[in-house]
Amino acid sequence: MKFFIDTADLDEIRSAAELGMLDGVTTNPSLIAKIVKDPSNFTRTDFFDHIAAICDLVDGPVSAEVTSLDTASMIKEGEALAAIHDNVVVKCPLTIDGLKAIRHLSEAGIATNATLVFSPSQAILAAKAGASFVSPFVGRLDDISTDGMALVEDIVDIYDNYGYMAEVIVASVRHPQHVVEAARIGADIATIPFSVISRLAVHPLTESGLKKFMEDASVIKP
Ligand code: E4P
Repeated sequence: MKFFIDTADLDEIRSAAELGMLDGVTTNPSLIAKIVKDPSNFTRTDFFDHIAAICDLVDGPVSAEVTSLDTASMIKEGEALAAIHDNVVVKCPLTIDGLKAIRHLSEAGIATNATLVFSPSQAILAAKAGASFVSPFVGRLDDISTDGMALVEDIVDIYDNYGYMAEVIVASVRHPQHVVEAARIGADIATIPFSVISRLAVHPLTESGLKKFMEDASVIKP
């Protein structure tokens, strides 16, 4: 399974990249808003420069989301985003307009990520529109007492049935167990916040075991 980081924070991306296991990055407008220091003075050029800076840090797909709602504007925005760097993936919302934009952009050879996916039917449409990636949001479904990972399971099954090429990105990841479940189901990718990546390696028995090993290692004299 590939690991993406779900952030626009350059320091977090750098730290995750140092682990040597980072395969890509996903951003969205909310994640971009978090890194903006002066919201009264952040332009589209600043946004594009920031996406370019992310592409310089990671050699893999970098999702950048369109901020318009109609197909024509999404296509225009998507083409501009794709021109930033070969690794840019244009993220479009799973709406009828978004599906049309995905179709157009994918036919033009531009990679796309269908975002805000909450049902198997939406995932089927994303694949049929030619999306390169589809992003089911597991955490937001769990938040409303609906099983987010069951959706991932459905999508993986359906895509297997028909050999759909779209890669499944498990998104809206809240904790390490989401990552483990994504891997068990066979999702292609998990996009993981930095706070969760940091917790993947942690186990109290590793910590207590290591403490004891260090104490006992004192019998070995230099
Ligand atoms: C990734 O592509 C999504 O934008 C992201 O995972 C959403 O996560 P959230 O539900 O924590 O905002």
